[in-house]
Amino acid sequence: MTHIALITGANKGIGYETARLLGERGMTVLVGARDESLGRKAEESLREGGVDARFVQLDVTDDASVQRAAEWVADQYGHLDVLVNNAGIVAAAEGAKPSETSRQVMHRLFDTNVFSVVAVTNAFLPLLRAAEAARIVNLSSEVGSLTAMTDRQSPLVQLVDLAYPASKTALNMVTAMYAKELWDTPVKVNAAIPGYCSTDLNGYSGVRTAAQGASVGVALATLPADGPTGGYWGALFGNEPDENATAPW
Ligand SMILES: NC(=O)c1ccc[n+]([C@@H]2O[C@H](COP(=O)([O-])OP(=O)(O)OC[C@H]3O[C@@H](n4cnc5c(N)ncnc54)[C@H](OP(=O)(O)O)[C@@H]3O)[C@@H](O)[C@H]2O)c1
Repeated sequence: MTHIALITGANKGIGYETARLLGERGMTVLVGARDESLGRKAEESLREGGVDARFVQLDVTDDASVQRAAEWVADQYGHLDVLVNNAGIVAAAEGAKPSETSRQVMHRLFDTNVFSVVAVTNAFLPLLRAAEAARIVNLSSEVGSLTAMTDRQSPLVQLVDLAYPASKTALNMVTAMYAKELWDTPVKVNAAIPGYCSTDLNGYSGVRTAAQGASVGVALATLPADGPTGGYWGALFGNEPDENATAPW
């Protein structure tokens, strides 16, 4: 039976490449996008590349949109094999230190990068449980690592901004706690570190391609039955991300 994968924020960047790579592995990919025209464009270009892609309108911060998307997937397929929580944002003022960060910025970043992952996962969990052995992948970042961010020897120690790294650290705990709740089921939940990729998110300053960044999440989305759950996968900044390497939390 064809596997069904939903990727949030799949109209561009790492999400788009994740959809392409999972589609090339024979999955039907549901291209989550908040903007219909961008989503349809991504769907079209994936289909041109031979991928069975279908756009689904999904603004992860909008409960009604999340609910509609879950109902549509239930109606169309009755289950979901893979959920990739990829949609994410950075603060407009990158580099804002803790002492310069407003409640509004913290709320906005946490709303998309953390609260929405919980809302989307919960909306799709009945469909994930209905699949034979579902995989949930959360797109985290090396900057979510408390260990690396506070190690004076790490290149990450130069990063001083608060909101984005804190949101990814929170996402790591979200990942661990879902994995724990689902330990005794076939559902596996892991966090992926894509590495520093050239995308809109960072003004294309990254050193890896979006496709290279997508590869860690794709490996976690296609883990075998004896694969791990509740892990934080990929190498830290400066090293090649490796889906077989765990990073320190
Ligand atoms: N690039 C990196 O170096 C890097 C490193 C570590 C982790 N990551 C993580 O990887 C993920 C993808 O990042 P990227 O680099 O591919 O960024 P990107 O090119 O900016 O893409 C982000 C995607 O998220 C979508 N999105 C944002 N808010 C949304 C919402 N409320 N509802 C639905 N979709 C929403 C965007 O949609 P619109 O087009 O409508 O804005 C876009 O499709 C993020 O979680 C990011 O934190 C990236």
